[in-house]
Amino acid sequence: MVRTPCLLLLLLLWPQMHVSATIPEPCEVDDNNFRCVCNFRDPQPNWSSALNCISAVEVEIRGGGRSLQQFIKIADIDPKQYAHLIRTLPFERLTVGDAQVPAPLLFAVLRALGYSRLNQLMLEDLEVTGTPPPPPLEATGPALSTLSIRNVSWATGGAWLAELQQWILPDLKVLNIAQAYSLAFSCAELRTFPALVTLNLSDNPGLGEHGLTVALCPHKFPALRELEVRNAGMKMTNGVCEALAAAGVQPHHLDLSHNSLRATAPGARKCLWPSALSSLNLSFAGLEQVPKGLPAKLSVLDLSFNRLNREPRVDELPQVGSLTLDGNPFLDPRPPTHQEDPNNSGVVSACASSTLALGMSGALALLQGARAFA
Ligand SMILES: *[C@@H]1O[C@H](CO)[C@@H](O)[C@H](O)[C@H]1NC(C)=O
Ligand SMILES: *[C@@H]1O[C@H](CO)[C@@H](O)[C@H](O)[C@H]1NC(C)=O
Ligand SMILES: *[C@@H]1O[C@H](CO)[C@@H](O)[C@H](O)[C@H]1NC(C)=O
Ligand SMILES: *[C@@H]1O[C@H](CO)[C@@H](O)[C@H](O)[C@H]1NC(C)=O
Ligand SMILES: *[C@@H]1O[C@H](CO)[C@@H](O)[C@H](O)[C@H]1NC(C)=O
Repeated sequence: MVRTPCLLLLLLLWPQMHVSATIPEPCEVDDNNFRCVCNFRDPQPNWSSALNCISAVEVEIRGGGRSLQQFIKIADIDPKQYAHLIRTLPFERLTVGDAQVPAPLLFAVLRALGYSRLNQLMLEDLEVTGTPPPPPLEATGPALSTLSIRNVSWATGGAWLAELQQWILPDLKVLNIAQAYSLAFSCAELRTFPALVTLNLSDNPGLGEHGLTVALCPHKFPALRELEVRNAGMKMTNGVCEALAAAGVQPHHLDLSHNSLRATAPGARKCLWPSALSSLNLSFAGLEQVPKGLPAKLSVLDLSFNRLNREPRVDELPQVGSLTLDGNPFLDPRPPTHQEDPNNSGVVSACASSTLALGMSGALALLQGARAFA
């Protein structure tokens, strides 16, 4: 029998350990016994304290940045023999963070969690080390609806999602991946996510349109309706359109907010937006004008908090049901001054047009002079 209990499996498998209170506990449960948070940051942490979480619905466990290699033997236990026990545990939401986890341990824990009611799993600030075990022979793991991954590095690079996918059931509806080390998935190994409705790749500032094209493996996200790529290094709406077209995804809602978007280069190829796209978020995108080539028709367009200096003309906008323009300079109630906005001031534009007129008449005079000479 394994002597060193895994901080996770301990929680799952060893609820009958004897308990006697002394020093402050790394785990704290709220008054309703709903949420339990453990932070094992002590050099000699008391892992048994995790037992306090036994009747919580939401459990968060942080490993104090240490390696969980010492628990590797857990991976040899067949979780079947504890299945009845795991089934009685009420937790539905689990966060694991701040540790180095060997891949065989992580996947063994996922297999054991297949007997639990776990619905939402969050992995944060983890370093997953070593090579994964051979793929399971049958569908296994928890029936997650939401999987969130933030700042997790994997020794196996871009193969990680395909590997992780083998240890959860295909029910996943929401997948959040932020601060990823690699989103260059090996598409050939990735299985389809048949139920995935929301893919959130926000907070991957190095992604860019090219990275998005690579991450969106073709035909793997047939049910996708919402794609969030906030703060993900996107530069041009046109490039995003091309990435979506290449992947054949049909999102209804696309969030491109918090990217530094530039106007599409003149002469750039036109791209056909997904026909289902009805809501587009372009807020906080540094836009000085409405990008050209947006979908012709939208129910929602958010252009708030950009740098639009004048109200967009009707012909610059798609046909849109709900348009948000808050937080743009043209709505600023302060009167424009020459320093702030010389191009918009009436005086300057009047000047500009008279200079133009002057220039035109000068050119005409020259032309006439030239004719006179001829
Ligand atoms: C470790 O935690 C358990 C469970 O909360 C507690 O009963 C025990 O006293 C703790 N051990 C030490 C050495 O503090
Ligand atoms: C990301 O996770 C590593 C541990 O794997 C941690 O050292 C680092 O501080 C985390 N970074 C952020 C920005 O939280
Ligand atoms: C998408 O991911 C970002 C970054 O992790 C997060 O802040 C945001 O809340 C997520 N969106 C949704 C709808 O969960
Ligand atoms: C668009 O994104 C911004 C910031 O990410 C958010 O505050 C806003 O609610 C979003 N707008 C819509 C219509 O969802
Ligand atoms: C004014 O217009 C010129 C030429 O179109 C442009 O280069 C400049 O950046 C504009 N200045 C401001 C403050 O918008």
